[in-house]
Amino acid sequence: MPVLIVGSTGFVGRNIINALKKEDIDFVASDITDSVFDKDVEYIKLDITNREDVFNVFKDYDIDYVFHLAAHPLSASINEPTKNAIVNIIGSLNLMDASKEFGVKKFVFSSASSIVGEVVKNPVSEDHPCKPKTPYAVAKLSVEHYLRVYQELYGLNYVIFRFFNVYGPYQYPNSGALIPVVMDRIIKGQEVYIYGDGSTARDFIYVGDLADFYVETIKRRDIKNEVFNMGTGKLTTVKEVIELIAKVVGKEPKIVYKPRKPGEITNFSANVTRLEKFFGKVPKTTLEEGLRKTYEWFRNAVTV
Ligand SMILES: NC(=O)c1ccc[n+]([C@@H]2O[C@H](COP(=O)([O-])OP(=O)(O)OC[C@H]3O[C@@H](n4cnc5c(N)ncnc54)[C@H](O)[C@@H]3O)[C@@H](O)[C@H]2O)c1
Repeated sequence: MPVLIVGSTGFVGRNIINALKKEDIDFVASDITDSVFDKDVEYIKLDITNREDVFNVFKDYDIDYVFHLAAHPLSASINEPTKNAIVNIIGSLNLMDASKEFGVKKFVFSSASSIVGEVVKNPVSEDHPCKPKTPYAVAKLSVEHYLRVYQELYGLNYVIFRFFNVYGPYQYPNSGALIPVVMDRIIKGQEVYIYGDGSTARDFIYVGDLADFYVETIKRRDIKNEVFNMGTGKLTTVKEVIELIAKVVGKEPKIVYKPRKPGEITNFSANVTRLEKFFGKVPKTTLEEGLRKTYEWFRNAVTV
């Protein structure tokens, strides 16, 4: 049952590869970058916008499962909406077309909680109305619709995970994500910025928990053609996260308050009822535990 991981060089991809290795599951890694892996990892350099190259991978390997994690990021989508659509919509369709042509058993897609746009009811369920506010979120929601339509028209099975705020090893400060940025700055004794009063809250999920659910999609053949929130259901304020990171690192944070950034959608968490109903479990790592594991990796990999 070889799994094709697309976007394997990225933060989540690296963690899923470690989870697959632990379970002894056969996989092929791919990304647009040069390989960052040891020789024991089968790796293909692949740009998903190149349709011919995508089809060639499926011709060369007997792929049963696709874990599609490749993406043009949210922040870049504001200035490059067309590029975002080419990578995130056309690139995804190339993978889906090859998957249907070559009889892939399940296509697992990494969507985003930001497709919700405006929160009407918190915690947000998978049935919550979606009104995306960025080109990135429009593309993610489009692919969700394409997957449903491909299932109905061509029988391609899928699982969609809508990621909330994922954190953990292999997430570098240059990603701009709150946790690695703050951890890096506290370790270096630099100022930490809070935009607003720090009371805005997010649902943080440890990447190791998320990787376990990806492995489950292979083991649980019965789980298909469903959308799941990938969050914890717990809200933590930005100020609380900074204090927890400081506790884990063992240093006092130098907090500087700045004006709130406009347009940020915060204060919403995942309703995880559906996740629990189908998988019989929810993400279990507490934020403090997850931050400790993140720091273990961070102190060796980032701050040397
Ligand atoms: N990290 C989060 O909190 C979060 C939240 C919501 C959704 N997601 C989604 O989850 C997935 C994984 O996220 P991540 O944090 O690991 O992202 P990441 O940016 O670390 O990894 C994405 C990978 O995609 C690759 N890529 C970009 N363009 C490509 C192309 N044309 N062809 C092949 N590969 C290409 C990049 O090289 C990169 O390695 C993404 O689809 C992302 O949109 C992540």
